[in-house]
Amino acid sequence: MKRNIIITGGAGFIGSHVVRLFVNKYPEYNIINLDKLTYAGNLANLKDIEDKPNYKFVKMDICDFEAFYQLMQDEKIDGIIHLAAESHVDRSIKDPFTFARTNVMGTLSLLQAAKLYWESQPTPYVVEHEMADGSKLKAQSRFYHISTDEVYGALEMNRPEGIEPPFKTVASSEGHKAYGDEFFYETTKYNPHSPYSAAKASSDHFVRAYHDTYGMPTIVTNCSNNYGPYQFPEKLIPLFINNIRHRKPLPVYGKGENVRDWLYVEDHARAIDIIFHNGKIAETYNIGGFNEWKNIDIIKTIIKTVDIALGRVELTEEQQKMNSSWLMAHGSLPDEMFPDMSLITYVTDRLGHDARYAIDSTKLQKELGWEPSLQFEEGIEKTVRWYLDNQDWMDNVTSGDYQKYYEEMYK
Ligand code: NAD
Ligand code: DAU
Repeated sequence: MKRNIIITGGAGFIGSHVVRLFVNKYPEYNIINLDKLTYAGNLANLKDIEDKPNYKFVKMDICDFEAFYQLMQDEKIDGIIHLAAESHVDRSIKDPFTFARTNVMGTLSLLQAAKLYWESQPTPYVVEHEMADGSKLKAQSRFYHISTDEVYGALEMNRPEGIEPPFKTVASSEGHKAYGDEFFYETTKYNPHSPYSAAKASSDHFVRAYHDTYGMPTIVTNCSNNYGPYQFPEKLIPLFINNIRHRKPLPVYGKGENVRDWLYVEDHARAIDIIFHNGKIAETYNIGGFNEWKNIDIIKTIIKTVDIALGRVELTEEQQKMNSSWLMAHGSLPDEMFPDMSLITYVTDRLGHDARYAIDSTKLQKELGWEPSLQFEEGIEKTVRWYLDNQDWMDNVTSGDYQKYYEEMYK
């Protein structure tokens, strides 16, 4: 089946994994990666697929309505998977306008251009493709918007010591705990706190309004924190891996007690694939790892994993035989063994810092059969290995403007 799909933000962290998955899995589709290449966009993330015949890159700002409308027509686009956004909470606190422009106005611009093009078709929202043998193929259009769990606000930490989680999944690890009784459901009322999440919430509302008002076939998903290769080192996990490598201080906000629900990025990309193809129009799906962690516990796990990988810690012969994710999972290595624990530096808390996020993704599991595939300790080990094996990638993205950003943000 032929499809012509635009993936916005495909040069970013999650977008590059989605582009890679679609280009490799669907050789019969045309995949267009549309990205402005802001500081967070990097075509080096897609080196392995850039020459594939079903892949094309277009440098464009999602706010450029005219150019996007033209592209829709030229490429007979029937599907949009929209990830382009300003994505870092700390930057949104310093510069909210950029977030409103890209996340709200950019999304609105895409919606309106898509509406005009899809409504101009002989059957609105059905795009007709001419096949090589002269036959015609009709594709139902689809606007799939990728959003975040942060739009739901913050959950209470009413179980600060953690309890047995109510859910067990493939991804549940031995140290996995739930830090409260409540979870984010698809029905949870929106209550965003940061300029980033307020802008994402606004864009979600516009997407739903285009379905309810004009009948556009839309889907929205809200996902928890992603981790894995190619994440820009402004975010906790790659930033701290890089700092440990350089033995720089690790700036832990507040007491390091905030809780996030972590999902390996390839599991998110897999969910996006399933939902794009089989999700119900006008529905919302939550995507999460059922994998809550306090920041400080993650940070200690990262320090241990990096120190083992770089041979900075002395392990017994028996310990050396085990892989480090097994060692982490069984908590058998005391913090004191690791020299880089001393890099932990508690700093002023993030303004409006949300206490806890925890997604309930039961609907997605039950209706579409998706589950996260990786245990966190295993995912973290893979991630640490990737950043240590790809130091050129890290050195490239941390040269130039990054230094100014770092000094400004952490002064
Ligand atoms: P990212 O910052 O790594 O990548 C964003 C991409 O969008 C970059 O390639 C950037 O160049 C591009 N972009 C930014 N402004 C643009 C514009 N005006 N026009 C065209 N392209 C533009 O972000 P990410 O972490 O990969 O997140 C992708 C999406 O997923 C975002 O919508 C984000 O809100 C959402 N999300 C992220 C997470 C997470 O943990 N990272 C979790 C849930 C949802
Ligand atoms: O929940 C989904 C969201 O996850 C996405 O929508 C966002 O795009 C993504 O950036 C992420 O937001 P967070 O703010 O949770 O991620 P970040 O990596 O910035 O921070 C994770 C936690 O670590 C958070 O509690 C703040 C803390 N932190 C972060 C940094 C950068 C620190 O303690 N020190 C730091 O230097």
